[in-house]
Amino acid sequence: MKLAIIGYGKMGKVIEKVALNRGHEIVLKIDQDNVDLLQKGELNGAEAAIEFSRPESAVDNILACFQHNLPVAVGTTGWYEHWEKVKSECESKKGAIVAATNFSVGVNLFFELNKKLAELMSKRDEYTAKVEETHHTEKLDSPSGTAITIAEGLIEKHSLYQNWENQQTEKNTTLDIISYREAGVPGTHTVTYDSPIDQISISHKAKNREGFALGAVLAAEFLNGKTGIYQMKDVLNF
Ligand SMILES: NC(=O)c1ccc[n+]([C@@H]2O[C@H](COP(=O)([O-])OP(=O)(O)OC[C@H]3O[C@@H](n4cnc5c(N)ncnc54)[C@H](O)[C@@H]3O)[C@@H](O)[C@H]2O)c1
Repeated sequence: MKLAIIGYGKMGKVIEKVALNRGHEIVLKIDQDNVDLLQKGELNGAEAAIEFSRPESAVDNILACFQHNLPVAVGTTGWYEHWEKVKSECESKKGAIVAATNFSVGVNLFFELNKKLAELMSKRDEYTAKVEETHHTEKLDSPSGTAITIAEGLIEKHSLYQNWENQQTEKNTTLDIISYREAGVPGTHTVTYDSPIDQISISHKAKNREGFALGAVLAAEFLNGKTGIYQMKDVLNF
């Protein structure tokens, strides 16, 4: 496929490498200095886009993709308060989008495992759950979008938890998400259930950025010829 990369930073560069390895052509690279090409629809024949930019630029870029009939896989996190607007624009312009807080195949397996475990633990009130996430110090959003997806999955399946907070709380219906920032860490997420007699943890640790990039390229391939709103579980056929 002919692909556009929107946001040519740490992720954009890995996506380029993975896409070329899968036989795709990169016909357009958009970064902050040439974003007008995307706004004007000068797409150089791109058939799908992969967007990993910044929380404050993601929505404009996504809307420009809808405007110019360019399906888009969006990895940028930290913009989800605008989801309803993006959703309605996608519907009215007949756009195509996969938005994922985490494109890694392993993390998407972890999301499913987390929900299964929450279902089991919902009947076990001796266990207290928490979510922890560790990322590199340059990460702009906190908690991570992935941690939010994990927390929402747990809350959906567990009868006790009603909401989450990004701090340690003493409220028993609030799921605590604790965020740590350390230099050079690609990303670790852990869900722990603690009781007075034991502890159960499940954890996903990214070793590098290639897993995210591969998932994003798979999503762009999936979007070829489609319209509508999809998730990674559609791409991975879970
Ligand atoms: N969903 C996932 O699987 C996943 C995985 C890793 C990172 N991320 C997210 O992806 C985003 C990018 O991460 P990164 O590590 O590559 O960041 P980065 O800072 O290295 O790269 C961001 C790039 O976007 C560019 N940019 C700024 N304004 C822009 C605009 N208006 N249009 C296009 N590009 C613009 C910047 O110049 C920079 O090159 C972050 O939100 C991060 O949290 C998501």
